[in-house]
Amino acid sequence: MKNINTTKSSLLLKGHFCMNKILNKVRYLVKDQFEETNWKYHIVPCIKYAKKLAKIFKINEEVAELAALLHDIGRLKFGKRDHHITGVVEAEKILKKYKVSQNIIDDILHAIESHRGSINISPKTMLAKIIANADAMAHFDMLPIFFYWRADKKTFEKTFLWVDNKMKRGWKKMTLPEAQEIMKKKYESIRLLLDSVRGYI
Ligand SMILES: [Fe+2]
Repeated sequence: MKNINTTKSSLLLKGHFCMNKILNKVRYLVKDQFEETNWKYHIVPCIKYAKKLAKIFKINEEVAELAALLHDIGRLKFGKRDHHITGVVEAEKILKKYKVSQNIIDDILHAIESHRGSINISPKTMLAKIIANADAMAHFDMLPIFFYWRADKKTFEKTFLWVDNKMKRGWKKMTLPEAQEIMKKKYESIRLLLDSVRGYI
C-alpha cells in the first residue's frame, strides 16, 4: 500500500462537502451512536493522540481526526469481533456519502483494517501507523475505565489480569518511537502500579 499524501494542499474532496462539515457530521454520528463512556474515554483521547502524531509527522490533522473517529465504527455497530472488517464496510458508506475523495477513503479504510494489534494486517501507511499507535495511547490515559468495562470478568483477579495484559499489548502495539516517547512516563507509572498489585495475586 502506498503512502498517500494527505497534506492540507491535497485534500481532494469532490462536491460541496468541506472537511470541516464532514468532521462535524461524523463527530455527531459517532458521538450519538457510541455509548457515552466509549466516546468520552476512548474516541476522544484517540482523536487527541492521532492529531498530535499527525502534527509531528506532518500529515493532515483533519484526515487523522476523521480516521480516529471512524476506526471503531464496526465495533460500535456490530460488536468487537471482526470490527476491523465490519468497520471498513461501514466507514466506506459514510465517507462515500460525504463524497470524500477515493485516495483519502482508501487511506482511512486501510487505517481501520490494520488498527488492531491482535490481527494479522500490519499498518503500512503513515496514517495507519498513527491510528494504531493513537488507539494504544488512548488506553494509557484511561487505565481505570478498563476495570469498569471488564467487570464482567466476575473476579477482581480475572479483570486485573485482563487489564494488565491489555496494557502490555498496548505498549507493544506502539511501534512509533515518537509515540513511545510521549507515553513512556505514563506507561512506566502504570507498570509500577500494576506490578505492585501483581505481587499479591
Ligand atoms: Fe479503538
